[in-house]
Amino acid sequence: MKKINRITTLSATLIVIAIIATTLINGCKTPEAIASKSGAQLWGENCNRCHNAPDPTTYSDDQWDVTTEHMRQKALLTDVEITKIRTFLKSAN
Ligand code: HEC
Repeated sequence: MKKINRITTLSATLIVIAIIATTLINGCKTPEAIASKSGAQLWGENCNRCHNAPDPTTYSDDQWDVTTEHMRQKALLTDVEITKIRTFLKSAN
C-alpha cells in the first residue's frame, strides 16, 4: 500500500513538472502568426492604429531608431515586431 502511494506521488510530481516546463518553453516562443509576417505587413497593421502610418522615407535611419523605440512603447509591440518594422522603415532610405 505504501509503495503505491509513493509511486502515485512521484507520478503526480512528474506531471506537474512537465506542465510547468511546457508552459515556460511555449511562453518564450514567438507566435507563428508574428514570425511569418514581414516588416511591411506589421507596419501596415500596427502603425496606423493611432495615426496614419508614417511613410518610410519620412525620417533618416537614426531618426527611425528613436521614433520606433518611442512607438514600440506606445503600441506595446514585442522586440521581434519592432525590429522587423524598423528594418523595413530603414530599407526605404
Ligand atoms: C497606441 C497608439 C500608437 C500606435 C499604435 C503608434 N503610434 Fe506613433 N504616435 C502616437 C502618438 C500619440 C504620437 C504623438 C507623439 C506622442 O504623444 O508621443 C505618435 C507620434 C509618432 C511619430 C512622430 C515622432 C515621435 O516619435 O513622436 C512617428 C514617426 C510615429 N508615431 C511612428 C509610428 C510607427 C512607425 C508606429 C508603428 C510601429 C506607430 N507610430 C504606432 C501613437 C501611436
